[in-house]
Amino acid sequence: MGYKDAQWRKSMELKLDYNNMMVDYIGEEQGFTAKDFADNKKVIASAFNTVSENKGKGMMGWTELPFNQKDIVADILATAKDIKKKFDNFVVLGIGGSALGPIAVFQALCHLRHNELPKSKRKAPKLYVEDNVDPERMTALLDVIDINKTMFNVVTKSGATSETMSQYLIIMDILKKKLGDKAKDHMIATTSESKGNLIKIAKEEGLKTFYIPDGVGGRFSELCPVGLLPAAVVGIDIKQLLAGAAHMDKICRSKDIKKNPALISAFLEYLAMQRGKNISVMMPYADSLKYIADWYCQLWGESLGKAVDNEGNYVYVGQTPVKALGVTDQHSQVQLYREGPFDKVITIIAVENFRSTVNISKGCENIPDVSFLCDHTMNELINAEREATEYALTTAKRLNYTITLPEVNAFTIGELLYMFEMETAYAGAMLNINTFNQPGVEGGKNATYALLGRRGYEETKKEMDNAPKKNPDYIC
Ligand code: PA5
Repeated sequence: MGYKDAQWRKSMELKLDYNNMMVDYIGEEQGFTAKDFADNKKVIASAFNTVSENKGKGMMGWTELPFNQKDIVADILATAKDIKKKFDNFVVLGIGGSALGPIAVFQALCHLRHNELPKSKRKAPKLYVEDNVDPERMTALLDVIDINKTMFNVVTKSGATSETMSQYLIIMDILKKKLGDKAKDHMIATTSESKGNLIKIAKEEGLKTFYIPDGVGGRFSELCPVGLLPAAVVGIDIKQLLAGAAHMDKICRSKDIKKNPALISAFLEYLAMQRGKNISVMMPYADSLKYIADWYCQLWGESLGKAVDNEGNYVYVGQTPVKALGVTDQHSQVQLYREGPFDKVITIIAVENFRSTVNISKGCENIPDVSFLCDHTMNELINAEREATEYALTTAKRLNYTITLPEVNAFTIGELLYMFEMETAYAGAMLNINTFNQPGVEGGKNATYALLGRRGYEETKKEMDNAPKKNPDYIC
């Protein structure tokens, strides 16, 4: 049985349990009520309608990705097959939306020590995603890869991002010096077909190219070639990933908030924001989902953190997303979540069935305070600790809800990614903001161009030069 079977798909549906957001469980002061849902009926309906009407249009092109990539998927699979045969390493050069998705899906769906496995067990190239311009990191990468056996994938929708283009320049120079005319066979470009410099460069250099559709922004791009190519190279079933997203799309067509997990989670977060809960914690209880939390942080933060609403009024909205890992952060952040300010909503991600079972060995029979662990599995322990955290948060009247994955596989990850994307779109509609732009990020990019002398940014440079100089009295 697999994703083509309806019964299997049903068994792989995610569950969202929001009991611990409700008054019955966390009390009147913090909890939400049936009246809150009734009072906001219009907000919920209007967000649902806005998102439904805009699906597939403008910057909501990402809703089509589970359905419109048949030929692209075939091309990706053929390219990946070739890469697997010829190369030992696959290196993604990209940042933000061009990196966080590939990292998250790799961690979720490959062996947790993929790169350390011997080649015979790995059966796919090692994957590196280089999403910074730290010179030490670039040097370290070059120390561990053999350029002759490495395929690079430069990913930038705008084709202008300084970090990614500087990485491209460095690597292309090395490739040309070492491999001459063959350099082009070691670089694939993923970029916009219609805009930017990378497409021009790719054409001049004769690079194999994949396209990021116009209506797909960086943080919504994991299910297009940005994420699908690296995933296919490391052996992830990308058709199953897309099938999971398509299944969630179907679920999210329900206007009934109780049947639409993306709509309900958007509303819960929206209501929380209205009540001053300005922090959204994403806490998966599985190492495989650790970087899904990073990916979510970008999606939520960059999409909802906006100064103005759709009418141009200053609203300064958004929630600060925080990533946490269960159980690791029980010994670090949970103290704050349970006893600090009432300013958070904590989303826990649970996994019902892990892909491995580890028994806790017998021992220390004379010490009952240790030996109670024996005869349990690590699987039981991690899930008991998750339940214990839910309980501890709830008794301390802290808003929390849990999303459960029956297991981690390409289908459930496709569902989860798409659910978060839809949740973000609904939440943006409830806040009446532009979910899909990022003027704050562009501001930083432009200031970097100005500082490094890019043509056309002279005015920004002047403004920066005229900014108040640092006062040495404030530096110690
Ligand atoms: O979500 C976004 O749009 C951004 O985070 C971008 O992904 C990031 O800035 C990288 O942009 P680009 O793909 O143009 O290099």
